[in-house]
Amino acid sequence: MDHDAVPRPQDFFPEDLFRDQRAVVTGGATGLGKEISLGLARLGARVAVLSRNPDHHAELARSFEAEGLKVRTIATDVRESSQVHAAAEQLREDWGGVDVLVNNAAGNFVCPTERMSANAWRAVLGIVLDGTFYCSREFGRMMIDQQAGVMLNIVATYAWTGQPGVAHSASAKAGVLALTKTLAAEWAPHRIRVNAIAPGPFESEGAAGNLWPSEQAREAVRSHIPLGRFASAEEVALHSLYLLSPACGWVTGECLVSDGGTSLPPSFIGEGRRPKKSAPAG
Ligand code: HXC
Ligand code: NAP
Repeated sequence: MDHDAVPRPQDFFPEDLFRDQRAVVTGGATGLGKEISLGLARLGARVAVLSRNPDHHAELARSFEAEGLKVRTIATDVRESSQVHAAAEQLREDWGGVDVLVNNAAGNFVCPTERMSANAWRAVLGIVLDGTFYCSREFGRMMIDQQAGVMLNIVATYAWTGQPGVAHSASAKAGVLALTKTLAAEWAPHRIRVNAIAPGPFESEGAAGNLWPSEQAREAVRSHIPLGRFASAEEVALHSLYLLSPACGWVTGECLVSDGGTSLPPSFIGEGRRPKKSAPAG
């Protein structure tokens, strides 16, 4: 097995795993969301992406077309409940319902709490926590009508560890984790599963631009990853697809940590276990 190869969903899952499934991915035109969208479509799903930037939508459409796949994009700011409602109504009319929801949209930047403005706090809480609530409520209603559905929320391990410099994001992700468990219990009688995944640092333009903008900052982050490297968005997408798939049909209210060991406690004996050099993939 080539452990350096970029993992592809087709290498691990049957090609028709999501056949006839109607999937919505928020922030699904870039980074992890894009890989989840592509993965779902490659495995047979119809995919709609809800996000703001038309340039991201055009680039996403090109990536899908290059593989002979189709994607639907709906310009939506998930902070606005009316926009989320309008997007959901469009999909209810055109598709008749939605089977899969991935709450992936996020905003983030590093800012010491004492310098964080109210707008800065609201910008991140609005996207991450309000957006997840609005989308879960709209698409959850459809899933209740269908008596079936599956949701996945993207969080981060600092939802329970905390992390200096990202009070807004950590607080919002903690809220999303609580929402995940609450909705899993509330909607289990409707045969709706709700899970979360907590990735560690993975490569994306959004994260790099906002969280490790220089090579020095990037190396500082990498040096804290016990497995010695960043993940790729593709491999975190694989774990996400697994949680969405019927393989996890009896898993709900759970959060899968996919972080190369980053949230494990640091060693206090001997030299510790952190690699000094960057490790190859696999
Ligand atoms: C301090 C900042 C800031 C910064 C914005 N603000 N950036 N404050 N430091 N670096 C403040 C602004 O001054 C403003 O407050 C308020 O936030 C809103 O800013 P806007 O630019 O108007 O917001 P908006 O255009 O809505 O943009 C939202 C955003 C932006 C969150 C600020 O970063 C964004 O859209 N990001 C999307 C992509 C992204 O962040 N991806 C990373 C995901 S990685 P004032 O008071 O001036 O009006 C991730 C987890 C990583 O989430 C975990 C790693 C382990
Ligand atoms: P990304 O590429 O920047 O993705 C964020 C997406 O959210 C963008 O496509 C953006 O699209 C969308 N978005 C932002 N604000 C929005 C809004 N108001 N309405 C609708 N969509 C909005 O970053 P990523 O790294 O792939 O992050 C994906 C997920 O993984 C996020 O939930 C993030 O918190 C989580 N995560 C990332 C890391 C990491 O290391 N990268 C680690 C742990 C968790 P538009 O700008 O077009 O709207």
